[in-house]
Amino acid sequence: MNHHRRFDRSGRSGDAEAMQIARTVRELRDWLDGRRAAFVPTMGALHEGHLALIRHAESLGEPVVVSIFVNPTQFGPNEDFSRYPRTLETDLAACEEIGADLVFTPAAEEIYPPGQPPMEIALPPVATEPGLEDAHRPGHFRGVCQVVARLFDLVEPAVAIFGEKDYQQLLVIRAMVKQEQPRWQGLTVTGLPTVRDPDGLAMSSRNRYLDPEQRDRALGLARALQAAHAAQKPDTAEAIMIETLRAHDLAIDYAVVRDSETLMPVGDFSRPTRALIAARLDDVRLIDNQAMTVWT
Ligand code: PAJ
Repeated sequence: MNHHRRFDRSGRSGDAEAMQIARTVRELRDWLDGRRAAFVPTMGALHEGHLALIRHAESLGEPVVVSIFVNPTQFGPNEDFSRYPRTLETDLAACEEIGADLVFTPAAEEIYPPGQPPMEIALPPVATEPGLEDAHRPGHFRGVCQVVARLFDLVEPAVAIFGEKDYQQLLVIRAMVKQEQPRWQGLTVTGLPTVRDPDGLAMSSRNRYLDPEQRDRALGLARALQAAHAAQKPDTAEAIMIETLRAHDLAIDYAVVRDSETLMPVGDFSRPTRALIAARLDDVRLIDNQAMTVWT
C-alpha cells in the first residue's frame, strides 16, 4: 500500500495533498494540532453513501477526518459483528481518491482503553421511546452513543456528518449533542439524504451479503416506501408497506409512519412525518426510511 502515507509528524508541512492514516489517538491529536475538522464517522466497507458524506465534508473547507472503526459495543450478541465486512485497503484507496485528509483507523484499545470503565451517556428519549431500532436492537444506541461520544471527544470536530439512511441514529446523535452541551462546543450535526442504487435499493455495507435473488427481494423496502408515499393517512401508508414487504417475502420488524422529530406515532400528515421500515431477509437485516408529504 505504498500510495498511502503512514502518519508522519511532519505531514502537515510536507506534501499537503497526501492523505494521512492515524492508528492511535496520539497520532490523531498530533495531526489535528487544535484544528477543527469536518468529521465522517464510519464502520468502513465504504460505498457511495459514505463517499457522499465525505464529499460534503470536503465542500466545507475544513480538514476532513474519516474514522473507520467497527464498534463492537453497538452489535448485539446475535448480530453480525464478527462477519461485518472489513475492506480496509479499498476503503483507504477510496478515501484517498476523493481527497480525505486523515483517516483514523484505531484499534479497539484506543477507543476503549483497557482498565478504564467505558463512558456511559444518558440516552435521549428518541433512543429509548419510539419502539423501533431501540426495541429491536436493545443496547444498540447505547453502543452508538458510547463510540460517537468518544470519537467526538477525540476529534472535537466543527461539523459531524451522518446519513439519513440510519434516520433514528441521526436523531439520537443530534439529541445527544444537545443534551451533553456544552461538551463539543459549537459542533454542528449535518444529516444527508440516503444514496440509492439506480433501482432504488438504499446503499448499505450489508448489501454485499445478498445474492441476486435476495437482492431482488431486498428491493421490497424501497418499493414499500414508494407505494406508501401517496397514502392519505398514516395507517393506510402502514398497511400498504406491510403488504408490499410481505409480497417480497420479508420478515417485518416494523413498517410505520412516525413524527420526523420524536419518532412517536402520529394520526395524520399535518406535520413532518417519516415512514420507517426494518425487515429481515433470511439472516440479513435491512432498514430504510423516507419523508412523507406534509398535507395542510
Ligand atoms: P456505517 O453504517 O458505516 O455508516 C456511516 C455513515 O454513513 C452513517 O452516518 C450512515 O447513516 C451513513 N450511510 C450509510 N449508508 C448510507 C446511504 N446509503 N446514504 C447515505 N448515508 C449512508 O452508522 C454507522 O456506521 C455507525 O453506527 C457509526 C455512526 C460509525 C458509529 O459506530
